[in-house]
Amino acid sequence: MSATDTLGRIRVNGAVPRHVAIIMDGNGRWARERMMPRPFGHRSGMKAVRDVVEGAIEVGLEVLSLFAFSKENWQRPATEVGALMSLLEEYIAREIDELDERGVRVRVLGELGRLTPAAAAAVRRVTERTAHNDRLVLNLFISYGSRAELVRAAQLLARDAVEGRVVPEEITEEDFAARLFTADCPDPDLLIRTSGEMRISNFLLWQLAYTELFISRVLWPDFGKRELYEAILDFQNRERRFGRVSA
Ligand code: FPP
Repeated sequence: MSATDTLGRIRVNGAVPRHVAIIMDGNGRWARERMMPRPFGHRSGMKAVRDVVEGAIEVGLEVLSLFAFSKENWQRPATEVGALMSLLEEYIAREIDELDERGVRVRVLGELGRLTPAAAAAVRRVTERTAHNDRLVLNLFISYGSRAELVRAAQLLARDAVEGRVVPEEITEEDFAARLFTADCPDPDLLIRTSGEMRISNFLLWQLAYTELFISRVLWPDFGKRELYEAILDFQNRERRFGRVSA
């Protein structure tokens, strides 16, 4: 069945998630299966990003969040880290015009102070250029760790308390969420992880509280809009109760 047929089934089935988050995993294994170095897998993974972004637009998602580089990934060999930074620059250089034309607003979320100067400049360029778009928000999580994001939110609240802007006993969940990188996004409805691994890996720990999980056995470079649609179809058959009983 083609991706377009699957898209048709999504429309027939009804509600599309507003926000899909993806842990893109399996680039290294994909490369190893082909006896190629790991950066080759990441490069192929970049092509999968392109296809999935296109699928997200076609299906009508509001937000697509992609975990592209974790804080822990800085510990990988320097050659692999360098290759990933270069790929980020290359992705932005290649895609910026089309992303802008298609109405995608790109945001890069994480501890960006550690990026190479060239990668940081590319991030600034795409963020500024696409800031006015409102068809799809594409959140690229780079140098991101959820626990660090939570600690940062606690620090911001503590600062506000010390300076008298908030009363500690009156702090709400909304106050906390407003200090996360994702402050202006709805929480993900669906989290997809590729390559069959069943872990959250320090991604969006607060935001995933009621998110539906979908584990795909497909390695990230082989994931595309068709696989995205299959995950959404599966999501459409779930009953989300948010802790309540069935309607
Ligand atoms: C996990 O696979 C993937 C990453 C650490 C990098 C993700 C990067 C991309 C998809 C390409 C660049 C994307 C953009 C947006 C520029 P892994 O290396 O952990 O795979 P393994 O578990 O098989 O070793």
